[in-house]
Amino acid sequence: MSGFSWRIAEETDIPAISALQLRAIEELQRPFLTPAQIESSKKTMGLDRQLIDDGAYFMISEEGGPENVFAGCGGWGRRATLFGGSHSEGRSDAFLDPKTEPARIRAMYTNPDFTRRGVGKLLLALGELAASEEGFSKMTLGATLAGMPLYEAAGFRAISRDEDPAGDGLNVPVITMEKPIDRDGAVSVIATATGEAAAETVRRLAQARPSY
Ligand SMILES: CC(C)(COP(=O)(O)OP(=O)(O)OC[C@H]1O[C@@H](n2cnc3c(N)ncnc32)[C@H](O)[C@@H]1OP(=O)(O)O)[C@@H](O)C(=O)NCCC(=O)NCCS
Repeated sequence: MSGFSWRIAEETDIPAISALQLRAIEELQRPFLTPAQIESSKKTMGLDRQLIDDGAYFMISEEGGPENVFAGCGGWGRRATLFGGSHSEGRSDAFLDPKTEPARIRAMYTNPDFTRRGVGKLLLALGELAASEEGFSKMTLGATLAGMPLYEAAGFRAISRDEDPAGDGLNVPVITMEKPIDRDGAVSVIATATGEAAAETVRRLAQARPSY
């Protein structure tokens, strides 16, 4: 897999992010959920603007592809919210302690035209490297059923399962998963997918870090 590039998402990307997320939610969850469950999943999925404000959301493009077509988007969190969009319940913007708490992987979506080409893996690696650079040693996330195969392939293990996080009786599970950070593994995935040297990725991640 090669031929992708990444950059940090900006406010002006929001319409493209929302459209990509909606397509991924509606098309890529079909093998895993009923139509009613897909509707319900929108309560606990989608755009979290805080990630964009935090410089912690990534846009993936295919090298040489049209500028306005993204292969995927996803991010990571240094705040307590585990999953969900700006509209979801149970958010917490409290900062995590990298010494004792795992960083979050957040809002991962691949454009349905680009699945199984390593875009999800690349997004995970970018989040993992960014978290490692800020002193975290573990990652956690709230997985959809559609996301689980990717996360298992990337070394995450399930630690608990909430059967009905939306609280509407439609039982769309969210599975909490964890893994230790593998910095070298992340660097290697990024280099293979983008051809970018680790020092350059680290420099660009540092540039994206807000001063708060
Ligand atoms: C989950 C998601 C981001 C995965 O995206 P992706 O870019 O296709 O994943 P990758 O190409 O990086 O997959 C890497 C590996 O993960 C595993 N994997 C990913 N998707 C899989 C699937 N649908 N079935 C089985 N294995 C899968 C495979 O091992 C794959 O490697 P391979 O293609 O060489 O066999 C995408 O399916 C998606 O957007 N789903 C809908 C939204 C969603 O549920 N997001 C997760 C929120 S927690």
